Amino acid sequence: MIDSYGRNINYLRISVTDLCNLRCEYCMPKKGIKKACHDEILRFEEIEKIVKKFVSLGINKIRITGGEPLVRAGIITLIEKLSKLKGIEEIAMTTNGTLLKKYAKDLKEAGLTRVNISLDTLDDKKYREITKGGELKEVIEGIKEAQKVKLTPIKLNVVLIKDFNEDEIMDFVNLTKNEEFDVRFIELMPIGQVRHWSLDRYLSNENILKKVPELIEIESKDISSPAKYYRLSDGKGNVGLINPISCKFCSNCNRIRLTADGKLKTCLHSNHEIDIKGLIRDGQDITEIIYDIVKHKPKEHCLEAEEYIEREMTAIGG
Ligand code: 5AD
Ligand code: SF4
Repeated sequence: MIDSYGRNINYLRISVTDLCNLRCEYCMPKKGIKKACHDEILRFEEIEKIVKKFVSLGINKIRITGGEPLVRAGIITLIEKLSKLKGIEEIAMTTNGTLLKKYAKDLKEAGLTRVNISLDTLDDKKYREITKGGELKEVIEGIKEAQKVKLTPIKLNVVLIKDFNEDEIMDFVNLTKNEEFDVRFIELMPIGQVRHWSLDRYLSNENILKKVPELIEIESKDISSPAKYYRLSDGKGNVGLINPISCKFCSNCNRIRLTADGKLKTCLHSNHEIDIKGLIRDGQDITEIIYDIVKHKPKEHCLEAEEYIEREMTAIGG
């Protein structure tokens, strides 16, 4: 599917749940989120039906996100079904990693290609603080298990946060020295109810290049990736910078999103959504709706002044 700006839309991100077993300060409101009732969330057969339609229209890359996708019961079976669909070349997952030790092997066997793991600090105490009680040890064990079963290449997503992890930039970069990780720094985006907190804690990714001037820019393997890639001269892995705030990457954006409650979104930073849950439940064909939403995919995002995203990140899936 080609949109109005000539971008080939071939990547679908599917949030399978709003729920998460962590409460990251920039993502979850303090009081938590209202648990959607069972019926509001797409059933797995419905997700499968939607994905089949998208694949028939040219989607060949899928990412499973949440909330935390591994807290949804039956997730392995869903991956197994989706990975068997003809036309799918890659099925990846974004996870906080806390449950990977338990599930990595099953995920690999079910056909998952690889994982992106969110990790904002390498310090136990700070991890507990930012996630409101998470255990870093579980994530580290999860990463090791994912490496062992070859859910690779593994990307570690680090949200850069002022007065929190800027002193760990070098430690994160150094992880790429001996391991084939892609460590990707993401600028903190003001989204949902916690946007004011995020605005106060925002730091531009330019700080990475200032702290580590020896990083060498390399050509990206994938032009649709929002990350600019760098590496240490003796590094095995890469360092990515994802700059949604200081620099836009919309001109290469190839993605479309499906939320856990059955809405299609063509841009993370737009409040525009199309509800397809009812149509799917009524057995209606959604081809025209998909074409229409792709046609109206915005040229670029706007994160200025008063334009904020209302939906919580945990309901969009990053
Ligand atoms: N700004 C930047 N990144 C965010 N993520 C979640 N909320 C935000 C935000 N406000 C990241 C998570 C994870 C990915 C899904 O999105 O840390 O790595
Ligand atoms: Fe959960 Fe990820 Fe949000 Fe943290 S950022 S609360 S791990 S969904």
